[in-house]
Amino acid sequence: MTSPADLSERAELGQLAAQIAYHEKAYRSGAPEISDGAFDDLFDRYVQLANALEIPPHERIDRAPGAEHTDGFVQVPHRVPMLSLDKLSPNRRDSKGEPMPLLDQLVNWYTRRHKDLGDPATLPLLVEPKIDGISVSLLYVEGQLSRAVTRGDGKRGDDITLQVRQAGAVPEELSIGGSVEIRGELYWPVDKFETYNERLEAAGEKRITNPRNGCAGLMKRKEPEGIEHAGVTSFLYQVPWAEGIELPATQSGILRWLSDAGARVYLDEMRVLDSAEAVLEFCEGYSERRGQLDYEIDGMVIKIDELRYHDMLEGTGHHPHWAIAFKFPPERKPTKLLAITVQVGKSGKLTPVAELEPVGLAGTTVSRASLHNFVELERKDVRVGDSVFVEKAGEIIPQVVGVELSQRPADARPFPRPSSCPTCDSATVSEEIFLYCPNPACPDQVRERLKHFAGRAAMDIDGLGSSTVEQVVEHLGVRSPDQLFRLSATDLEGLERMGKKSADNLIAGLERAKGRGLSRVLVGMAIRHLGKTMSEDIAAHFGSAAKLLDFAARYMGGDSEAIDSVAPEKGSGAIEGMARKTADSIFAELDSDAVRSVFAGLDGAGVKLDAVIVTTKSVEAIAGKTFVLTGTLPTLKRSAAGEMVKRAGGKVSGSVSKKTDYVVAGESAGSKLAKAEKLGVTVIDEAQLLALLGEA
Ligand code: IVH
Repeated sequence: MTSPADLSERAELGQLAAQIAYHEKAYRSGAPEISDGAFDDLFDRYVQLANALEIPPHERIDRAPGAEHTDGFVQVPHRVPMLSLDKLSPNRRDSKGEPMPLLDQLVNWYTRRHKDLGDPATLPLLVEPKIDGISVSLLYVEGQLSRAVTRGDGKRGDDITLQVRQAGAVPEELSIGGSVEIRGELYWPVDKFETYNERLEAAGEKRITNPRNGCAGLMKRKEPEGIEHAGVTSFLYQVPWAEGIELPATQSGILRWLSDAGARVYLDEMRVLDSAEAVLEFCEGYSERRGQLDYEIDGMVIKIDELRYHDMLEGTGHHPHWAIAFKFPPERKPTKLLAITVQVGKSGKLTPVAELEPVGLAGTTVSRASLHNFVELERKDVRVGDSVFVEKAGEIIPQVVGVELSQRPADARPFPRPSSCPTCDSATVSEEIFLYCPNPACPDQVRERLKHFAGRAAMDIDGLGSSTVEQVVEHLGVRSPDQLFRLSATDLEGLERMGKKSADNLIAGLERAKGRGLSRVLVGMAIRHLGKTMSEDIAAHFGSAAKLLDFAARYMGGDSEAIDSVAPEKGSGAIEGMARKTADSIFAELDSDAVRSVFAGLDGAGVKLDAVIVTTKSVEAIAGKTFVLTGTLPTLKRSAAGEMVKRAGGKVSGSVSKKTDYVVAGESAGSKLAKAEKLGVTVIDEAQLLALLGEA
């Protein structure tokens, strides 16, 4: 029988799954809201509950490894999968529910490995720093760097050779023969990262939030010119595969060998130890040195030193059994929760925010912390008046991680879910784990939407930062995007800190932004489920706002041909990755009066509402030719391949005719391939396309 306790645990499990999915998406989009540690805590709690409730493995959510594939990058399979590491966790509990000290966990792990290996007389452990960067797999052939690939989903990653080379992040040459795969971590040293940020700030641009995401961003720049000055570097630590060359017998030997060959290895930072106690002592002691290093480390990695044992130990699909990570605890301080305020975002999402008694934490004073959503707030049961713990990891916004229940004031009450918007009083609606204000005219929403519209990802209006948006809303009565374009220099000059020169600059910035094109306008509209890539795909497919809105009306009118063309029940439609549910939501919003009137306003203000195609580098074999892409390509998404063709000056069409120059066919290509064959149009595969593009 299911007990009431089971029921509430099941509800918590469901909410945890939703939160994990949300934060994973935020992480993958490059804007994490919580630290890795806080994310691990959510996941650990999920696993603990799933175990307690005996949820079978296939019904559990899985933890996808970070930043997977980026459109436009060629995917390369890994010879040996790139796995994660198991870790010692401060949250682990034993079978009686008692917290389990780290030493006990490490002793258990070490004893199990001893047993798995038939109790060898000695089993030395190598301990080395765990650098917080992005993992990379490098192929050296006869000592020359020949390829660099990201971890991706662990089975295949993105080819970033161009970027890694341009950044000078790894040695171009090593004094070793044969073919060797070397793995390591690409990272941005803290001082170089700071210098880069200072330059960004001086140029009036936004700072990059943290070195790891910054490094990942640089390594995924399609045009990497200029990144050689950033200072990204690497730390190499593993050789999973080699041919035509003899390797050392131990991990410590590998590190010395790599260092002798010319790779950057932290020999001074490693230790070979032979007891769990000594290992833990070294790890904990190392934590004190963290602040003095020029790279960010999030823990230590403990590895069995003898490499022949690695092959003898099995692992899980997630991590090998020859290593385990020790993660440093983030800095944590107690403080008092003075109040909870509720913020309204651009889409109307309500976010509870903790107003704290100021406390010094990891070098800054913290007085506010996001509580993310009401599900999280209720799960933590944080109440006004509570003594809470705040934590800050890296550059991530501080988090409230727990409550000291013994100090809770007798009159502290749970914070109620708002039934109405704190700003405009509209009744709130709930969707998934969030609460929303449904009123698009809500003053907070209007202001946040305009900030987003002017922002870098959208219309990138030079001179229109957050505080200027606040002023034009408050003092000049701007409510909709088109009104921004109708502002005059005279209107602007009356604002605070706005002289004639900045007013003129802003007008010039607005003028430039008018030509950004449909995909940027779509991003700026902040339509739910419509991100950058899909906006680009939609703009490229429909070509203009008029055609797009026409289509939205047909879609909403139930025109089955229209619906099937973008989101068929089976297979994929014209817009890659658009599922029926997403399409329903996107086209409903596009067809709404609110969105139509914004488009009409922008049109009236002279904003370009056609798709803009950026040709970066015309390629002779492609320029002026018409391509049709069909079927599933082995590594590229069709949209990415299409984008590459367009950038090289070619045209992409949806249907085959005599005018088609090439049909690029992938797996299960159907009628388009048949038609090409009938008309005698040249059919090529992805590899041939890449060769034409000069990318192979
Ligand atoms: S060994 C099976 N050693 O941490 C993976 N990994 O959390 C064996 N990392 O994906 C990896 N420093 O990107 C190893 N000294 C080190 C490391 C290290 C950082 C990263 C690596 C891995 C992740 C796992």
